[in-house]
Amino acid sequence: MRALLEAVLGTALLLGIFQSGCCVRFDVKNEVNKTCLLADLSINFTANYQKGDKQAIANFPLPSGAVVDNKSSCDPPVLAITFGVGYSLSINFNKSETEYHINQVVFTYNVSDLNTFPDSSENGTKQVSSNKAEISAKTSNYYQCTSPHLIIMGNANATFHNVKLEAYFTGTDYTGNATLCKEDVTPTTAPTTTAPTTTAPTTVPTRPPTTAPVVPKTPDTGDYRVNGSSGAPCILAKMGLQLNITAKKDDKNVTYVFNIDPKQVEAKGNCSGNYAALRLASKDVDLLFNFTLNSTESKFFLGHVHLNTTVPETFNIDSGSLSYLQTTTHKSYKCNSEQTFQITDSFSINTYNLQIQAFDIDGNKFGPAVDCTEDQNGMLVPIVVGAALAGLVLIVLIAYLIGRKRSHAGYQTI
Ligand SMILES: *[C@@H]1O[C@H](CO)[C@@H](O)[C@H](O)[C@H]1NC(C)=O
Ligand SMILES: *[C@@H]1O[C@H](CO)[C@@H](O)[C@H](O)[C@H]1NC(C)=O
Ligand SMILES: *[C@@H]1O[C@H](CO)[C@@H](O)[C@H](O)[C@H]1NC(C)=O
Ligand SMILES: *[C@@H]1O[C@H](CO)[C@@H](O)[C@H](O)[C@H]1NC(C)=O
Ligand SMILES: *[C@@H]1O[C@H](CO)[C@@H](O)[C@H](O)[C@H]1NC(C)=O
Ligand SMILES: *[C@@H]1O[C@H](CO)[C@@H](O)[C@H](O)[C@H]1NC(C)=O
Ligand SMILES: *[C@@H]1O[C@H](CO)[C@@H](O)[C@H](O)[C@H]1NC(C)=O
Ligand SMILES: *[C@@H]1O[C@H](CO)[C@@H](O)[C@H](O)[C@H]1NC(C)=O
Ligand SMILES: *[C@@H]1O[C@H](CO)[C@@H](O)[C@H](O)[C@H]1NC(C)=O
Repeated sequence: MRALLEAVLGTALLLGIFQSGCCVRFDVKNEVNKTCLLADLSINFTANYQKGDKQAIANFPLPSGAVVDNKSSCDPPVLAITFGVGYSLSINFNKSETEYHINQVVFTYNVSDLNTFPDSSENGTKQVSSNKAEISAKTSNYYQCTSPHLIIMGNANATFHNVKLEAYFTGTDYTGNATLCKEDVTPTTAPTTTAPTTTAPTTVPTRPPTTAPVVPKTPDTGDYRVNGSSGAPCILAKMGLQLNITAKKDDKNVTYVFNIDPKQVEAKGNCSGNYAALRLASKDVDLLFNFTLNSTESKFFLGHVHLNTTVPETFNIDSGSLSYLQTTTHKSYKCNSEQTFQITDSFSINTYNLQIQAFDIDGNKFGPAVDCTEDQNGMLVPIVVGAALAGLVLIVLIAYLIGRKRSHAGYQTI
C-alpha cells in the first residue's frame, strides 16, 4: 500500500516536474534587487542519446520548476537556469549600438537521468551550444516570438515558443515596443525547391502555386573506401547522398536539393590517430566527412562535415562539432531507410541505403551491422507476417499429426 502510494506520488511529482503550459518567468536582479533581465520562456528540447547500441531521441519541455541560477549576471547579461537533476541552460546576451541579441546558448543535460532518457547506456552530463540563436531586439524593446523558433546545437536542439524577453531591462514589466521575430512577421511560406540544373528561382512564381516542388529522385548508392597507411581500409561507406541547402535570395528562402552522383565523385581521404576523413570530390562539389574515434569508449562517430560547392551556387558550409552515427568500433552503422542529418540550420543531408564503418575494419569488410531505429520499425512487418506464417504451418502440422494418429487408431480396432 505504501509502495503504491509512493509510486503514485512519485509519478505525480515526475509529471509535475516535467510538464509545463505556457512560459516560465525568469527574472535576474542586480545587487540592489532591480531586475535587469526578464524572460518568459517555453522551450521544447530534443536530445540524442545512446540506448544500447542504438541512438534514441528524448523530447522534454522546460519544466515549470526551472529556476534562475546564481551563475546569472546583469553585466554582461546572462540568464542561467537550472532544472531537474543536472540540467542547465545558459543564455548570454550582447549588444551593439541599436540592438541587443543572444550571442550564445549553452545547454547541459543529464543522460544518466533515466526518467528523461529511458534505457540510456550513457553516464553523466552532456553539453551543447550554439552561437546562432538568431534572437535579437531593438534597444529598449522587448523580444517576442509566439511561433516556434529552433536553435540547433548539434546533439540537442531547443525550440523556443511563446517567448517574451528583455535584456538591459530597466522598468518593472515589458513596457517598450515589441521586436517580433521573423517567424511571427513573415507567415511561413513553403520553400521553393529548385533542382540545381533549373535556372533562376525567378521563374518559380510564374508556376501555379499548387505545383509540387521539384525534388530529385532517390540518389544512386555509392561504395566508398579510404585506405589507411597499411593499405587496409580505415573507412568503408555505402550510401546514397542527397544534399539540401536553404539560401536566402531576394528575401525568399530558396531550397536546393541535389544528389551526389557516385560516378562523378572521387573518394579521397586519410586516417591518422583519432581522425578518419572521407572526402567526396568532383569539379563542383567537395564534401568532407570527418570521423572521430573515442578510444576510451571504443566508439566512433561523425564529428565534422564540411561542404564546398560551386553549383548550384557557391556555398562553403562548416558543421562545427557533431556526434552523429555513434557506433561501437569493429561494428558498422546501417540504415536502409532515409535518414536526415541536420548539419547546420541551412544544410541537411538525406542518406539512403547507408552502411558505414571507420577505424578498425576487420577483413576489409563491414563488421556486424547496428541497425537504425527506422529499419527496426520497418522490420516489424516482415517479422509479424513471418511469425503468423510459422504459426499457420505449425497448426497444419499438428492437425495432420492428430489426423494420422486417429486413422492409425482406427485401423487397430478393426
Ligand atoms: C534582495 O531581496 C532578497 C529577497 O527578497 C533579500 O533577502 C535581500 O536582502 C535583498 N537585498 C537588497 C540589497 O535589498
Ligand atoms: C544525473 O541523474 C542521475 C540520476 O537521476 C543523478 O544521480 C545524478 O546526480 C545527476 N547528475 C547531476 C550532475 O545532477
Ligand atoms: C554509470 O555509473 C555507475 C556508477 O559509476 C555504474 O554503476 C554504471 O554501471 C554506469 N552505467 C553505464 C551505462 O555506464
Ligand atoms: C512542445 O511540446 C509539447 C508537448 O510535447 C507539444 O504539445 C507542443 O506542440 C510542442 N510545441 C512546439 C512549438 O514544438
Ligand atoms: C585501397 O586499397 C585497395 C586494395 O589494395 C585498392 O584496390 C584500392 O584502389 C585502394 N583505394 C584507394 C582509394 O587508394
Ligand atoms: C530540405 O530542407 C527544407 C528545410 O529544412 C525542408 O523543408 C525540406 O523538406 C527538405 N527537402 C528535402 C527533399 O529533404
Ligand atoms: C528562411 O529561413 C530562415 C532560417 O532557416 C527562417 O528563419 C526564415 O523564417 C525563413 N524565411 C522565410 C520567408 O521562410
Ligand atoms: C578532421 O578533424 C580533426 C579535428 O578537428 C582535424 O585535426 C583534421 O584535420 C580533420 N581532417 C580533415 C581531413 O579535415
Ligand atoms: C570519449 O568519451 C568520454 C566519455 O564520454 C569523454 O569524456 C571523452 O572526452 C571522449 N574523448 C574524445 C576524444 O572525444
